[in-house]
Amino acid sequence: MPATNRQIRLAARPTGEVKPEDWEHRSVPVEDPGPGRFAGRTRVISLDPAMRGWLDDRPSYLPPVGIGEVMRAGSVVEVTASDHPDYRPGDHVVGTFGVQEHVVSDGRGAMKVDTALAPPSTYLGALGMPGMTAYFGLLEVGALKDGETVVVSGAAGAVGTIAGQIAKAKGCRVVGIAGGPHKCAMLTGELGFDAAIDYRAQDVRKALREHAPDGIDVYFDNVGGDILDAALARLAMHARVVICGAISQYNNATPVKGPSNYLSLLVRRARMEGFVVFDYAERYGQAAQEIAGWIGEGRVKVKEHVVKGTVDDFPETLQMLFRGENVGKLVLELP
Ligand SMILES: NC(=O)c1ccc[n+]([C@@H]2O[C@H](COP(=O)([O-])OP(=O)(O)OC[C@H]3O[C@@H](n4cnc5c(N)ncnc54)[C@H](OP(=O)(O)O)[C@@H]3O)[C@@H](O)[C@H]2O)c1
Repeated sequence: MPATNRQIRLAARPTGEVKPEDWEHRSVPVEDPGPGRFAGRTRVISLDPAMRGWLDDRPSYLPPVGIGEVMRAGSVVEVTASDHPDYRPGDHVVGTFGVQEHVVSDGRGAMKVDTALAPPSTYLGALGMPGMTAYFGLLEVGALKDGETVVVSGAAGAVGTIAGQIAKAKGCRVVGIAGGPHKCAMLTGELGFDAAIDYRAQDVRKALREHAPDGIDVYFDNVGGDILDAALARLAMHARVVICGAISQYNNATPVKGPSNYLSLLVRRARMEGFVVFDYAERYGQAAQEIAGWIGEGRVKVKEHVVKGTVDDFPETLQMLFRGENVGKLVLELP
């Protein structure tokens, strides 16, 4: 019997939270690589909040995933057969290969990674897209200066853990905002943040007054909504508000809730700027090298949340992001 490739495809556009019936689980025959291409077996799949946005049929920085298409996802695959000059069986390759067990690629947009230096999952996390997001968001968009006060929301997640630790490596005072005592204890204990605010249990405005008494110089926002508003109310002069994401709004069936405290940008002569990490692709190599250096020195600790399962577990694993069940980078590791 020919080998099969299990895939997760988009069956319907969700309204609000994604439901199991929005996905189709399908098995198709495994393809041969053919001339100039390689075939690979998926090892780990990245789960990202942005995936929710890719399911909506509205203009964005990437086209939506089409109905019936394999769900878009970053992953690391191990090459099993190749007619491509740059790839050999046994090589590990990171790319946007989708939620499926087997892939065939001509190598465009793909990059070989060294699993002797770091496990495959880390190329989807600290040394991958989330790490790049933290690095360029904080240092370029946030124009971080040594010794400033930095507040990071979604601080216990893939981007947040790296952003906060980069700010610490730059000698900043860092306050993280995250959900639950366990995540907050990890931020101030293991990761060396100066303070952590549990937004589920505490009044964020009050806590920011206490932990950022002189105001926030850089606010790195991963969540939007009420937490963004609370941070806007506490800006220092010439503050930078980095709009990285707004996960609190992604499942809204109603329009996104915008900030009401935006006039504090005027009063504080501050700037609020969004960015898309892909715009920095040409400089990923330099950023990855610097982050790898910090990891080597123990200044950046890698936090990964590895779920072991099959591609059929993708829909349920994706929901963990929206329930706050992950600590650090969430990945699905296949057998
Ligand atoms: N601009 C870019 O180029 C770019 C690139 C990558 C990622 N992003 C954005 O960066 C953000 C973080 O992504 P990530 O991959 O690092 O995910 P992540 O932080 O690892 O996971 C999502 C976390 O968001 C928190 N969360 C969920 N619902 C929330 C809510 N209603 N209010 C507040 N917090 C909530 C949860 O933590 P708690 O338990 O703390 O609630 C959850 O663990 C996302 O907004 C994403 O879209 C942007």
